[in-house]
Amino acid sequence: MMEPLLTPIAALLVACLFSSIIMVSSLGINYGQIANNLPLPENVVPLVKSIGATRIKLYDADPHVLKAFANTGVEFIVSLGNEYLANMKDPSKAQSWVKTNVQAYLPATKITCIAVGNEVLTFNDTTLTDNLLPAMQSVHTALVNLKLDKLVTVTTAHSLAILQTSYPPSAGVFRRDLVTCVTQIVDFHCKTGSPFLINAYPYFAYKGNPKQVSLDFVLFQPNSGIVDPESNLRYDNMLFAQIDAVHSALASIGYKNVCVQISETGWPSKGDADEAGATPENARKYNCNLMKLISQKKGTPMKPNSDLNIYVFALFNENLKPGPSSERNYGLFKPDGSQAYPLGVPAISAVSNNSSSGGSGSGTGTTPSASLPPASSSSGYLAITSDSVSILAPFFRFFPFFIYYVFIIIVLLKGE
Ligand SMILES: *[C@@H]1O[C@H](CO)[C@@H](O)[C@H](O)[C@H]1NC(C)=O
Ligand SMILES: *[C@@H]1O[C@H](CO)[C@@H](O)[C@H](O)[C@H]1NC(C)=O
Ligand SMILES: *[C@@H]1O[C@H](CO)[C@@H](O)[C@H](O)[C@H]1NC(C)=O
Repeated sequence: MMEPLLTPIAALLVACLFSSIIMVSSLGINYGQIANNLPLPENVVPLVKSIGATRIKLYDADPHVLKAFANTGVEFIVSLGNEYLANMKDPSKAQSWVKTNVQAYLPATKITCIAVGNEVLTFNDTTLTDNLLPAMQSVHTALVNLKLDKLVTVTTAHSLAILQTSYPPSAGVFRRDLVTCVTQIVDFHCKTGSPFLINAYPYFAYKGNPKQVSLDFVLFQPNSGIVDPESNLRYDNMLFAQIDAVHSALASIGYKNVCVQISETGWPSKGDADEAGATPENARKYNCNLMKLISQKKGTPMKPNSDLNIYVFALFNENLKPGPSSERNYGLFKPDGSQAYPLGVPAISAVSNNSSSGGSGSGTGTTPSASLPPASSSSGYLAITSDSVSILAPFFRFFPFFIYYVFIIIVLLKGE
């Protein structure tokens, strides 16, 4: 009698559960710390949760951060800077690094990956390049010896500039002088089950050519898109075109099914006069549209059924980064924990020890036009002011129980 209603209700319940879990589980964020005014790591936990991020990439293995995120369920990529590569070739040094910086935090802190070096191949430094794969192998061997290789993989993050051609996406190929080296690295990924990481910034393409490049196309705004003449696939945003160019380049060296992750992408909210497009409004469009795409579980045209595995750059504006102003203004958050521009998620009233009073940094995101909810509390802690996001956290943590309850409910209802 009630039977026809029950199945849809149960299906809906299950669908809701899955969609919330998937949404929560797919956003990654880069936690860079080239700054002297950032909040204490324990105050950063609620900020990360407020945007639904469940994965963090660090540029080091900061013990304070790794401790602060213990038992939060957040997954970590920790990194070894380029200056470590020469040392890491030595198996005993690699082993001692892994013991101190990875093993010591497991399993409370979910370190799942070690990125050895950042954008090494595009420095054109032969010594550094020659050290890369041996360092990765040595760190992997250390993990094997410590029986951690099933939990933690080893990779390295590349710049998109390792591609010779990236447009149209089907024509993607690696720089000719890097093909041998990249092939060996990809072979290592296949043997050890680790992902291929690429840093991809449509912003650079726009900044380099603002008159030719469509702003809507780079900001994931509605636009007619482009059709790849070779594959006939339609692209309505540049990031997906860049990702598929990487897939094409990998296929061109014989690897069709490598797991590709975007280890960095983002948009600055402020830049110098000659940095076109670096505004709070564009940064908001780029990052909010991207987060929406990630939550919708959209794949790229070439890999529609693969997860978008993306780490947004970055969590905070970093006031000590060298280079043009944009470099110091990629953050979703200002150092005081307020949103650099409205992120479409509930704000948290945040006060860190150093909030904005520290005068040592000049470029700490004084974005005048960003209309921010006032961060009023001054009691030195972070409080979630709306809980529509935090509601999702229990779903994630208690996933197995929810599934169990759903089945119990179904069984009970059916039995009626
Ligand atoms: C606060 O900022 C100062 C520099 O302005 C730095 O030396 C200090 O370590 C920071 N303190 C915290 C708790 O982040
Ligand atoms: C590295 O070499 C490539 C090709 O030879 C060149 O296009 C690129 O500008 C160089 N990069 C740097 C940082 O020197
Ligand atoms: C920073 O704030 C914490 C509380 O959030 C407090 O325990 C600590 O003493 C403060 N540190 C400084 C340097 O003010």
